[in-house]
Amino acid sequence: MKEFSAAAKAEGKKIALVPTMGALHDGHISLIDRARSLADVVVVSVFVNPTQFGPNEDYDKYPRQLEADAQKCREHSADVVFAPSPSDIYAPDASTFVSEEQISQNLCGLSRPKHFRGVTTVVTILFNIVKPDFGVFGEKDAQQVSIIERMVRDLFMDVQIVRAPIVREESGLALSSRNKYMTPAERDGATRIRKSLLAGKALVDDGCTNIDRIKALVINTVTDAKTRVVYVEVVDAKTSLPVSELKIGQCRISMAVWYGQTRLIDNIII
Ligand code: PAF
Repeated sequence: MKEFSAAAKAEGKKIALVPTMGALHDGHISLIDRARSLADVVVVSVFVNPTQFGPNEDYDKYPRQLEADAQKCREHSADVVFAPSPSDIYAPDASTFVSEEQISQNLCGLSRPKHFRGVTTVVTILFNIVKPDFGVFGEKDAQQVSIIERMVRDLFMDVQIVRAPIVREESGLALSSRNKYMTPAERDGATRIRKSLLAGKALVDDGCTNIDRIKALVINTVTDAKTRVVYVEVVDAKTSLPVSELKIGQCRISMAVWYGQTRLIDNIII
């Protein structure tokens, strides 16, 4: 991969990287298409990164389907699928990590303490190997993108981070590789996540700026017998840091819920 990138750069080509953990769906495809529009060479990394999973999380059961993923990448004219194994990425005694220490303390960071450290570490490693001019990330993981933007700024990394919008099923459910864990009935029930975000946005559109009221409405709307709310927060749309005052068009409602056995995240700009 390093040799390929060096040769492409020597020819003056621009490289866009789409980092993924595989099990590609239309959300990932939209990132690949975006990358295609930006650069001469599109690299899709497929790597289920062990360092971003907690001890009791779904690392082992995370869907792995490299052949199907490679086929989708071919269909969307990606040039390279970079699919290293954990031992290609991490030496057995690897002891160096990259951690962002402000944004990652909130939202998902509260219930997944080392998750973002794993993300920033692997994204740095991928950037060092692939040397992309652009890194394309989806806004479903808005906090993740904010953290990566902060890391790139703070560490003077030579890569431009590009955000791409959330892709949804017709039902409104945000596409996620973890949707595979749900039964059809659960997927149906999980559409209340999107409905609750839209209810929050409608309240703001009606003139409400009271953050507690907005959060309460979202929580009430999402809650049913199968839901366990992890958090609902109103955050700055760019940094993902919690805000105390609502600024119209510059904030986002971000939420994580367990729906049955599946942890889902979603967000909306308000
Ligand atoms: O968003 C993901 O799929 C992962 O967190 C990423 C960015 C590929 C790092 O493993």
